[in-house]
Amino acid sequence: MFHNFNLAMKCVFLILAALGLSVADEGSTYDHFRLPTALRPRRYDVRLLTQLENPDDFRFSGTVKIQIEVLQNTHNITVHSKDLTIDDTEITLSQIGGESTTENCITSTAVNPTHDFYILNTCKELLAGQVYELSLPFSAKLQDQLAGYYRSSYVDTVANETRWISVTQFEPASARLAFPCFDEPGYKASFAITLGYHKKYTGLSNMPVKETRPHESIPDYVWTAFEESLPMSTYLVAYSLNDFSHKPSTLPNGTLFRTWARSNAIDQCDYAAEFGPKVLNYYEELFGIKFPLSKVDQIAVPDFIAGAMENWGLVTFAENALLYSPEYSALEAKQVTANIVAHELAHQWFGNLVTMKWWTDLWLNEGFATYVASLCVEDIHPEWRTLQLVSMSNLLTMFRKDSLESSHPISRPIEMTSQISESFDEISYQKGSSVIRMMHLFLGEEAFRTGLKSYLEKYTYKNAEQDNLWESLTQAAHKIGSLPKDYDIKTIMDSWTLQTGYPVIYVTRDYTSRTAKLSQERYLLNSDVSRAHKGCWWVPLSYTSQEEKDFNNTVPKEWMECTETGESVPKTIEDLPGPDQWVIFNNQLSAPYKVNYDAQNWKLLIETLNSEDYQSIHVVNRAQLIDDVLFFAWTGEQDYEIALQVISYLQRERELLPWKSAFDNLKFVNGILQQSSVFHPQSFKRRLITPIYEHLNGINDTVASEQQQEKTILNAMVADWACLFEVSDCVAQALNYYRSWRSEANPDEVNPVPLGFRDVVYCTAIKHGSVEDWDFLWTRYQKANVATEKHIILDSLGCSQEVWVQQRYLERNFDGMGAIRKQDSTSVFQAIATSEVGFLLAKKYLMDNVDSISKFYHPQSESMSELLPPLCEQIFTRRDYDEFMNFLDSSKEQLKDIEQTISQSLETMLINVQWMERNYERFTRAIKKHV
Ligand code: BES
Ligand code: ZN
Repeated sequence: MFHNFNLAMKCVFLILAALGLSVADEGSTYDHFRLPTALRPRRYDVRLLTQLENPDDFRFSGTVKIQIEVLQNTHNITVHSKDLTIDDTEITLSQIGGESTTENCITSTAVNPTHDFYILNTCKELLAGQVYELSLPFSAKLQDQLAGYYRSSYVDTVANETRWISVTQFEPASARLAFPCFDEPGYKASFAITLGYHKKYTGLSNMPVKETRPHESIPDYVWTAFEESLPMSTYLVAYSLNDFSHKPSTLPNGTLFRTWARSNAIDQCDYAAEFGPKVLNYYEELFGIKFPLSKVDQIAVPDFIAGAMENWGLVTFAENALLYSPEYSALEAKQVTANIVAHELAHQWFGNLVTMKWWTDLWLNEGFATYVASLCVEDIHPEWRTLQLVSMSNLLTMFRKDSLESSHPISRPIEMTSQISESFDEISYQKGSSVIRMMHLFLGEEAFRTGLKSYLEKYTYKNAEQDNLWESLTQAAHKIGSLPKDYDIKTIMDSWTLQTGYPVIYVTRDYTSRTAKLSQERYLLNSDVSRAHKGCWWVPLSYTSQEEKDFNNTVPKEWMECTETGESVPKTIEDLPGPDQWVIFNNQLSAPYKVNYDAQNWKLLIETLNSEDYQSIHVVNRAQLIDDVLFFAWTGEQDYEIALQVISYLQRERELLPWKSAFDNLKFVNGILQQSSVFHPQSFKRRLITPIYEHLNGINDTVASEQQQEKTILNAMVADWACLFEVSDCVAQALNYYRSWRSEANPDEVNPVPLGFRDVVYCTAIKHGSVEDWDFLWTRYQKANVATEKHIILDSLGCSQEVWVQQRYLERNFDGMGAIRKQDSTSVFQAIATSEVGFLLAKKYLMDNVDSISKFYHPQSESMSELLPPLCEQIFTRRDYDEFMNFLDSSKEQLKDIEQTISQSLETMLINVQWMERNYERFTRAIKKHV
């Protein structure tokens, strides 16, 4: 009877859900997106059987027993559960603890599909202070959706067979797809996991194995029980069944460290296995807290939605993120691996040991891990000198994203699961890490470390919010004396984390009194929007002058302050040099703001840049001047004439950062020019790039040492643009290398294309080549065993100029046949959409097939957010803007989970239209004067 009632209720719910309504069942009207707070889980016992043998019937089933502490009297229990079948006749509930166990029971259950709730109404009231054990049986299909508990596969080339494995991806809200649970980060509990599976597999989970014994009834099956975990959030739980090999590495302090991959790729694990334990040591030292688990496994999963995931003790990676082959991957890939391992292991403390209370503070997790990973890699590989480069790229990324009016504060309210997913963005990662870097630089090493350590110790196994961190840091800084007593971190940092955007500082010098007046306003690219009254930031002011040239001092000499009502306090800087000397603010870009100067100061800067003495300006500040002036010119607040005078100096420049800054900006102008039939400033571009291309000796096969990393990266970057603009011998060289590869008897074994230039060589060959060239590369893709190589090939296949070849590639990308993995489909789409002929095809394809594409990604519909930017960045006429806006508007249902991307895309297009209508003329006029 109660079973049928429940079924009937489910039907009512489905109908209501379909109508867009949501209610809870008759007993409970609970319809809030957060779990009720009357209960708290203490311990989970998850027992789970997985069947991976029959490809027609992959499934898992199990029972979860949850110990629940009652905080307030209640008549119902609400847990998260999504796409799980729960047999409610088998549910049991009993009171535990005290002298005896008392049975309770469930009168009815209900679901709330909007919030993934499964609600159980209890026979007797649950009383505050008591502890209950709820036992829920569940089962589901093991699908391929890259979230929850899912399956992945690879081809064993020796046996020529497909092999299946299983793995989890729970962050941010997918543990509920694997077992019923209180799926919010604040509900920390300990987890005892037991996995049942065929004995040919290895079972891995967060904790070490406690015991393995034969299954009581299924032949050849075993049960493996893992040790009970430390208190942790559901999103960090992980397990996997696989037939992988592993490479052990041992830490001097005894943590067992293993790196896992399919057997055929085990030789690509050497670097990660060697690097990982060093990282643990580094963080133990940095945080002053020992790593609390006795083992770490890192595993390369063939199908994986992100780059990597920090599950406590069982870190999962995409293959191209973890595996490195000295023979088949460029040195850059090694840096990517280092950075990503360092990032995930940083989370073991920052995120796992201490976790955010709610997803509003996700940025603390991600911004911190991003920042300290850059410190860690710099410490272990000082020869790569990556800290500067990584800090700079983070700043460049955030300057662009956060200059949109549709951006959002770092710390943001979260009210829907789709908003959690949307928070894993450039604002959390790149802006988050940039403001933490700013704080590190103005606090100094000692206060930063001491404050961090006391925060981590205080909240170990608990949850915290940003205010808790600010408090620990303020205390440390005041004690050490690195922050004025009347300043506190919260006031300063709130201005950066609670407000959208970042400021531009206007520096207006008075050359007779040797002073400068400073003012600030929010920097916005959209010139239709007023910047007034859009916020006030506490800005640490470091600066230097032509005579002082002390760029190394990043400790602020002064601050720009805000009043309590959020008005900027006007600032005057004194004792500046005379009228023939420049000043520069923000030494080494130590804080995320832009600076605009009066005309005379720009003139002085341009003179130095265009002289032998250009290196007297710090390399990071040279990159800053380029990025700033190009932004100002784009919006029309600075003359293109001035901007071009600044970037002309690049003819002398031989270092990476200024070039990166220039190319990042060029990308946006080029995206538009590529699609317009009008003026192409070819000769200007060639004049700019030829000297550096020739200085670096174009595409060459000299093997660079690790000390020359920056040069290698610059060389690859320059070759990329040089071949695109057909500079010097770039195209000819690329075609030569490709031709000699094609003529190899065994091209899968022997590849003469230099490792650092494979992307540009392949892309150029496909762009200028035949269908046979394309098919040759496609075959190499299918045969390649190294994920980074596969990636490069997939991207290059999108460079064709042949319409039907591009169309065929688009269709293959979404056909679901598995030749291209779902995880790679967004980058394939991007490659096609950013090519000259692919843009229109990709745009049309998306507009015609938005429905089937959204089904293709379901339930990871946030992946669709990656399809829009490459298109919008190239739309610049009112007509196309209107057309695309109408499309977005009529696809609301399919795009409902990516609202943030949609508003950013609309604004990006609008900004392009503004540029075309207002500044394009000025741009061409200035360029023509320069050639
Ligand atoms: N916690 C994330 C993984 C993640 C990303 C989960 C998105 C859910 C949604 C992990 O720590 C992470 O940040 N991974 C990055 C790599 C990192 C080096 C920037 C990623 O996967 O891109
Ligand atoms: Zn992360």
